[in-house]
Amino acid sequence: MIVILLGAPGSGKGTQSERLTAALDLVHISSGDLFRDHLGRGTPLGELARTYMDAGALVPDEVTIRMIADRLDRPDVHGKGRVLFDGFPRTVAQADALDALLGEIGAGNVGAAVFIDVSETTVVERMAGRGRSDDNPDVIRTRLAAFRRDTEPVIGFYRAQGKLVAVDGEGTVDDVFERIMAGLVACE
Ligand code: AP5
Ligand code: MG
Repeated sequence: MIVILLGAPGSGKGTQSERLTAALDLVHISSGDLFRDHLGRGTPLGELARTYMDAGALVPDEVTIRMIADRLDRPDVHGKGRVLFDGFPRTVAQADALDALLGEIGAGNVGAAVFIDVSETTVVERMAGRGRSDDNPDVIRTRLAAFRRDTEPVIGFYRAQGKLVAVDGEGTVDDVFERIMAGLVACE
């Protein structure tokens, strides 16, 4: 089972990932968390990613795809095919690359892409309550623009394949989780 979580910055991808990985026994792969891990360890990849993340821009596809390929090679994932992707793919080129990578490691196909649909007003409020280093108003504006320009086409990519599960992301964490679970059951 390969599930993708799509949504604007602050839409609740990380929050719902915790619940979904526990409920569905999936390995959580968050590209943002992987970049932040590299940053924390001061690796060259982390230093490269920092310039983009601080500005709220997407890290280039080739860098992101290589990092995900390395992650998929680890034994908890390789050949097992039980993954929840959070924040990846974020461009159509990344979505194409993911299909190829999953084929290479024999992990099956993407089963569902869940789009957590939340208003910009709500995501700005939610991020204000969190305060990560890329949560200041200017950077949030850039992240939202990157979402509209580069990631909204990914929603269309999965819709065209009949894999899109769009859920209303407003309301409590429990409400949204229940909608996602119901959407995944209906999609099977
Ligand atoms: P990434 O780490 O993926 O950040 P993001 O997409 O901007 O999303 P967030 O992590 O900020 O939000 P979220 O949707 O996980 O929401 P959360 O659950 O935390 O990416 C960071 C950067 O890395 C990018 O800008 C880019 O530079 C780079 N990057 C990452 N992936 C990349 C890729 N594939 N390609 C290129 N570059 C990439 O919730 C937010 C807040 O709201 C929390 O405080 C939470 O407690 C609260 N909350 C959640 N749900 C609810 C609810 N229902 N009610 C009330 N509060 C809620
Ligand atoms: Mg997140």
